[in-house]
Amino acid sequence: MKSIPVKKLLTTKPQGQEVVVNGWVKTFRSNRFIALNDGSTISNIQCVIDFETINESLLKKINTGAALKVTGNLVESAGSGQHVEIQATDIFVHGEADAETYPIQPKKHSMEFLREQAHLRVRTNTFSAVMRVRSALSFAIHDYFRENGFYYFHAPIITGSDAEGAGEMFRVTTLDAKNPPLHDEGTVNYKEDFFGKETNLTVSGQLEAEAYAMGLGKVYTFGPTFRAENSNTSRHLAEFWMIEPEVAFYDLVDNMDLAEDFMQSVIKYILEHCAEDLAFLEKRLLDEEKQKPQVERSEMALIEKLKFVSENTFKRVSYTEAIEILRNSKPNKKKKFQYLINEWGADLQSEHERYLVEKHFKCPVILFDYPATIKAFYMRLNEDGKTVRAMDILFPGIGEIVGGSQREERLDVLKEKMKALDIPEEELWWYLDLRKFGTAEHSGFGLGFERLVLFATGMGNIRDVIPFPRTPQNASF
Ligand code: 4AD
Ligand code: MG
Repeated sequence: MKSIPVKKLLTTKPQGQEVVVNGWVKTFRSNRFIALNDGSTISNIQCVIDFETINESLLKKINTGAALKVTGNLVESAGSGQHVEIQATDIFVHGEADAETYPIQPKKHSMEFLREQAHLRVRTNTFSAVMRVRSALSFAIHDYFRENGFYYFHAPIITGSDAEGAGEMFRVTTLDAKNPPLHDEGTVNYKEDFFGKETNLTVSGQLEAEAYAMGLGKVYTFGPTFRAENSNTSRHLAEFWMIEPEVAFYDLVDNMDLAEDFMQSVIKYILEHCAEDLAFLEKRLLDEEKQKPQVERSEMALIEKLKFVSENTFKRVSYTEAIEILRNSKPNKKKKFQYLINEWGADLQSEHERYLVEKHFKCPVILFDYPATIKAFYMRLNEDGKTVRAMDILFPGIGEIVGGSQREERLDVLKEKMKALDIPEEELWWYLDLRKFGTAEHSGFGLGFERLVLFATGMGNIRDVIPFPRTPQNASF
């Protein structure tokens, strides 16, 4: 007989019919009641042992974490808390879990502890809910782009260029680290490396996506990206997933419109399709908030916050206006910011972004027209000669979630910019070709997928929204 997912059983009409279910024991009460979960939903199915057919010797094998196959009759539940339950007539133990050593016991574990048990943490309610929402979000993202005429484009993961020019890359090499081939003057000879040159893991698929947008029109990437920045924050990973749409003939305003519509659409999708998991995550947060002093509690519950963001237009503000607001803000005047804002041209830190979103505007903000000096080489220079057509989207509790721009499509301006930044033309000859042959205005942006999952689930640390996080000094599992 085929087993039925718990999710399906819970909405099946109970008529005493025989059913089979597989899953892991969440709790086992009074030597009789098993709460079984198979990952299909946050809810468990209750299986009640029928001692006429089940041998008591089996009971000691039914511990939290054990994998079982339960056969029985689906009946209306007598107990409160569930509509249906299984009167279990047969239990097969796929695998036991020793009560003394199984780490995931039915009690509250700290997030830090669970990170050390990353291979088992998905068996907790919190992580299974987060990972289901993560999966739903990635589906919603593909769905949005397909519906809107985009092609899914696979950017290379090994690259010879540094798209963001930040130089924070992981080298890819097959050279012997202890004994690399050297030039006469002692430097490493990468001509002898696998690719005949220095190569790295990609920090962004944007440059390659631009090439494809200038032929397919609308493309997007959704793949892993790697950054060797030594940032030990709750918002940085060394390996994260990025979504990067790139569109020919779009200017910055089109780009902002796309980003806003896209973000709202995927959030609406999970509100509709992940209601149970979101309700669980919301309750979890509310319980956590109760432990905090009143002033630190957030003003909106999770679902209310998601609705708010998906229904209200994002505030669009230029960098110059934002600097004025920050310069005159209370935390700046009272020297509460770690980095004080004194003049135009300052790079914004997360504390400033969060002040704008959480204290000043109290809604998502799109900042645009940043100083050229603090942004990447490929952004389109404005008429003023000092700002570029960049945009960052800032979200409450997160800060920067999206970074994008209109790209510099003028060959001469781009060449000049690269010269000023010492980016050799030979390295990006193909990128310059795009400006030589049929160039046109075009734009795109990058969304950090884990930052979106962080926002959508209300989790506090980015390490807890990716299955196996990679951060400085940590690549376990
Ligand atoms: O702002 P970034 O660096 O922009 C780019 O890479 C552009 N090439 C995107 C484009 O225009 N196609 O990164 C984009 C987003 C950030 O806004 C942030 O959400 C996320 O990627 N991000 C990270 N997420 C997790 N860990 C990190 N270390 C991240 N660095 C960036
Ligand atoms: Mg950025």
